[in-house]
Amino acid sequence: MSQTETQTASAITAPPHSEVIPILDFGSQYAQLIARRVREAGAFSMLLAPETPIEELRKLNPKGLILSGGPSSVREEGAPRCDERIFELGVPILGICYGMQLACQLLGSNVDQAREREYGRAKLSIHDGSDLFASVPTATAVWMSHGDQVLDVAKDFDTLASTPTCPFAAVRHKSQPFFGLQFHPEVTHTPHGVDILRNFLYEICHCTGTWRMADFMETETDRIREQVGKSRVICGLSGGVDSSVAAALIARAIGDQLTCIFVDNGLLRKNERELVEVTFRDHCDIDLRVIDASEAFLNDLVGVTDPQEKRRLIGHRFIDVFKKTSDEIGGNAEYLAQGTLYPDVIESGHGHGGKSANIKLHHNVGGLPAELGFKLIEPLRDLFKDEVRKLGEVLGLPNQIVWRHPFPGPGLAVRVLGEITKPRLEILRDCDEILLEEIIANNLYRSTNQVFAVLLPIQSVGVMGDGRTYESVVAVRAVETQDFMTADWARIPYDVLATISNRIINEVRGVNRVVYDISSKPPATIEWE
Ligand code: XMP
Repeated sequence: MSQTETQTASAITAPPHSEVIPILDFGSQYAQLIARRVREAGAFSMLLAPETPIEELRKLNPKGLILSGGPSSVREEGAPRCDERIFELGVPILGICYGMQLACQLLGSNVDQAREREYGRAKLSIHDGSDLFASVPTATAVWMSHGDQVLDVAKDFDTLASTPTCPFAAVRHKSQPFFGLQFHPEVTHTPHGVDILRNFLYEICHCTGTWRMADFMETETDRIREQVGKSRVICGLSGGVDSSVAAALIARAIGDQLTCIFVDNGLLRKNERELVEVTFRDHCDIDLRVIDASEAFLNDLVGVTDPQEKRRLIGHRFIDVFKKTSDEIGGNAEYLAQGTLYPDVIESGHGHGGKSANIKLHHNVGGLPAELGFKLIEPLRDLFKDEVRKLGEVLGLPNQIVWRHPFPGPGLAVRVLGEITKPRLEILRDCDEILLEEIIANNLYRSTNQVFAVLLPIQSVGVMGDGRTYESVVAVRAVETQDFMTADWARIPYDVLATISNRIINEVRGVNRVVYDISSKPPATIEWE
């Protein structure tokens, strides 16, 4: 488990005066989502190691505590445990799934394998709507994902809700301020989950909702200052939201101890480099070094068609260019800053002890610090995209940057399918520019989350004028998503698609067919490679 993901309580600073709800992380893929839901509801939340001692928890002055779910069984030897004294904290505790089972076990209940493993939607009947379920309909859907369950609660528990296969789907202890949920309130598949979490925060923990993103900015600013001291920090700026927000936050903390490096890898969109230069050098007054390494990157990629190989080569070259540049910058540069977000962490298989599947080899996660000899600063590593945008706004970054659709580190290399050549890159750039112009002109940029063109490695027959053509096919991809971990294709109006298609085919030489991608993620991914 990486240190930034699940922090030890002594390493974490809660914003002064804020209401804190720590989460003991037992390894659930949803743990960070619980933290985000709590932050959205106006209390500060962060993940802590499961065994965090009660003394450390007390230092945070928490208003309540959440025990997350996790993949283990409380019956297994070596399964993660918590400090058995947590009930002595005297604050309300909410156990979710594994967290419920563990707490119920500690409080004398019997946990065993459920008759059937239960995954997916279940119908919850609420018997007691007085506190945790206040204002939640008595029959509602919930999301279950467990193998074990509490089979028989000790006599000191009240049952608050059940499902047809889970008699103790929600419980409350009679004398301790403990609540347990066998289902996951944090996922969107539990439609009233947010209400249940809010009830926990406001009705049970008596939070008042004072935490704001501005508090995160202050705490992180202090933390970065403390961590960096007098050293220099180097930050790879891509012009995307993530690295821009990271750079702005770090610049706020340490000013001219920060140098940003923008690498032109020859795989950028039209006018990308100019936009970054103008924004950061002219408007934000950040020490920005622009390195044109396009020839080196494109040379590496000659003849390469395999997506992972493209990412690998780009990643290596990036490190190389970065290293050379940072050596030239010299000084006592000790830290490397990156705009890694939480979804990057888990999709790269670095989440929770590396248990998640490695779906794509994102070059910006993992590996870099060892090779570069830098220590890493990733101030956004616990945040989701929409939280980063909020932070960008609080930091005063221009809308054009804050609301930018994400762009992958390997750039157009993973959107030019097949071999990457300058003429093919040029075709894609022109298509992409037209596509974005139309999306913006039709007010669709803010309602979609990522829109781009993909140049396919096939040619198709067409007819132009009186002649037969045999030219490239371009796919248009537009998705709507909250967190980029799941996504649906955007229902762009047909007439807008028609204009996009007409303009691309008429204005970009070498393209005679445009197709629209109607796949959701999963099972497809957002990028084609
Ligand atoms: P996928 O295609 O995995 O994309 O559904 C999810 C989000 O991640 C972006 N993406 C990348 N970002 N390096 C990055 O920095 C990469 O190698 C990479 N691959 C995908 C993608 O654009 C989408 O926003």
